[in-house]
Amino acid sequence: MSQNDYSERYQQTSTHLFDFGLYNVYDNNIINLSVGAPGPDLLANCCEIFNEATKHRMSLELASKSTLFQYGPAIGRFDIRDSFAKYLTEEYKEKVYGEDIIITTGATQGLHLILSTLIDFSGVIFVDEVTYMIALSAMSQFTTMKIVTVPLTKNGIDIEALRKLTAQYRFESKTKMFWGMYYTIPVFHNPTGLLYSEELCKQLVTLSRKNDFLIACDDVYNTLYYGMDSPPKRLYAYDDRNDADYKGHVISNGSFSKILSPGARVGWMECPSRCARLFDESGIMRSGGATNNYTSGIVASLIELGLAKKHLDMSRNKYKERMAIACKVLRENLPKNCTFIEPEGGFFIWVTFPADVVAADLNRFCMEKYKVVAIAGDTFSSDGKFKNCLRITIGFHNEENLANGLEKLCKAYGEFVAN
Ligand SMILES: Cc1ncc(COP(=O)(O)O)c(C=O)c1O
Repeated sequence: MSQNDYSERYQQTSTHLFDFGLYNVYDNNIINLSVGAPGPDLLANCCEIFNEATKHRMSLELASKSTLFQYGPAIGRFDIRDSFAKYLTEEYKEKVYGEDIIITTGATQGLHLILSTLIDFSGVIFVDEVTYMIALSAMSQFTTMKIVTVPLTKNGIDIEALRKLTAQYRFESKTKMFWGMYYTIPVFHNPTGLLYSEELCKQLVTLSRKNDFLIACDDVYNTLYYGMDSPPKRLYAYDDRNDADYKGHVISNGSFSKILSPGARVGWMECPSRCARLFDESGIMRSGGATNNYTSGIVASLIELGLAKKHLDMSRNKYKERMAIACKVLRENLPKNCTFIEPEGGFFIWVTFPADVVAADLNRFCMEKYKVVAIAGDTFSSDGKFKNCLRITIGFHNEENLANGLEKLCKAYGEFVAN
């Protein structure tokens, strides 16, 4: 159906986001390693725990005035925000304040709210080259904003490049709090798996204060750490309120999608007070009466009953196992001229092949011959670079499928380059 054929109905009959026809992630005949979401085995007990949490929440509502079914306060009910803060304090092993939390329907909505509420519509968005591809697509809907790419180093963003670019593009916004924003994923970066160093985090906060731009961090993988005892400190915590020049330049945009259920559509933002106030005054949030009053109440019960923690612990153990298996298969089966960093957490392994390898072609070959597929690197680049890279995701498939898929991928690579 063409976009101009008004008489035909738009055909979209999927039951989940990852039904890409031939590449349907739930199709047992293929191994699709492109999907950044928990798989069916990890979601299997959600029915049971959501059922329990719903009963718990309903008993609370019956005993009160059923306010969960009323429009909520624009940024979410305080008892729920506070319960998220307590949960995060325990998971981050660092204090999180209920006052800083804003309930969202996930990090994607958080990003959209940040762009529509806080950033000048003729402003500039700095992004890592490479970055989460759908965030790029969400940003490009703001057609009057300019997207500027900044290179990554092995420690995270090239801070000198960002320094020059933010100084170059800076202007005085007459309409919004910020003239520009740097969007990043400093902890277990998508797609590279990078973890920003402590030194870099400090430099980023200093620079954001100096050139007065916002740093929006997608912190959706932070609690999925595998090689350490506690999660890496999030960039938000480096923007210390006790500093003399503190105003609040960082937002931590979090989500229950990877650690509980993407379908629940519950997330949060940790915000400086000046941003929280603007979200609270936003027409969208006010008219909506909070973006997710009911489901956030259920998640608060999951937290209160200890079920959210249990689910996260179980998921983290599984992901950890998967990451270890995936790295082992790649280490043992890829030639030495193909490199990858072993991530300490998160979902992604970023493989770099020799410069003349076109990963999109390899992907096609792999799919045709072995029914295995991942995502070619240029998908994550605004400038169409990184064609010789491939992002592999460990989140969806169980250990056996994952290992099997990666063994096939490595075999396919050998045949692909030999031809
Ligand atoms: C970096 C990043 N941000 C956001 C999302 C989506 O998060 P949510 O489901 O909370 O909207 C993803 C999912 O792949 C992601 O990798």
